Amino acid sequence: MSEPPLVFTALRNDGLPDRVRAALGGERGALVLRRFPDDETYVRLESDPRGREVVVVCDLHHPDAKTVTLALLCETLRDLGARRVGLVAPYMPYMRQDARFKPLEGVTSRYYGKLLSSVADWLVTVDPHLHRHAALSEVVTIPHRVVSAAPAVAEWVREAVDAPFLVGPDSESAQWAERVAALAGAPHVVLEKTRHGDRDVEITVPDLERWRDRTPVLVDDIVSTGTTLIETLGHVRRAGLRPAVVVVIHALFSGDAWQRLEAARPARLVTCDAVPHLTNAIDLSGPIAAAARELLAT
Ligand code: R5P
Repeated sequence: MSEPPLVFTALRNDGLPDRVRAALGGERGALVLRRFPDDETYVRLESDPRGREVVVVCDLHHPDAKTVTLALLCETLRDLGARRVGLVAPYMPYMRQDARFKPLEGVTSRYYGKLLSSVADWLVTVDPHLHRHAALSEVVTIPHRVVSAAPAVAEWVREAVDAPFLVGPDSESAQWAERVAALAGAPHVVLEKTRHGDRDVEITVPDLERWRDRTPVLVDDIVSTGTTLIETLGHVRRAGLRPAVVVVIHALFSGDAWQRLEAARPARLVTCDAVPHLTNAIDLSGPIAAAARELLAT
């Protein structure tokens, strides 16, 4: 039997990496990471990666500093003879800057994808924000798998919500609202959003009257400032519907967004564990491990 993969879990502080490791039958990789007095990063491995398949599970929310640490760790693993270094990064940052919206802007989704492709041999991520990029292969050049959170979200909705109907706040969330609705056997609507600025969005709502005997479930891939979901909750309430449940895949919650979203009084607010957060209630370690297993077998 081949040696189990060496799985490094230190770049996240929640339980997901260890659940992925256990599902892969992997050995826990040990390392020392600390800061030098000048804030540079010290890396020393305590598990020898020579000739081994290595998996690094990381959290890339607030990516800039974390990406340098990740790159230094991956380079160390390669330098010390790892056979391949695979990356499990459930949240793929920078994906919303997927076009040059103003002259001379950087299309940073592409540059970030290129950077990750240079430090790892394969990548597993969860529902990257694919809007103007048709596929992750437009930004990532290494073998990869995209895990869909929709089956796990649909299962949660089926079990936790009475007579659900899915609401996507904007066309970008339509892909998630439609898929979750189909898997949960529930109807869905997609609203229209116009974004005027980082914290200024306008939502246009169709007639929601016919859904009064159902529970609205707002689904979005990302919550950042919370503005999109807060606006949508307001519309749903004014339409006289039942209090809405909110489900999000990537819990970014910039600044006080979590508190502001709770103040908009959703019936429940839950997130997937793609990004560690206290609202995490939907475990994605199973499908993430399944995707990693496929890549390890190649
Ligand atoms: C973009 O369209 C995404 O699907 C989300 O709707 C968006 O990122 C949410 O951002 P915010 O929480 O800042 O409104």
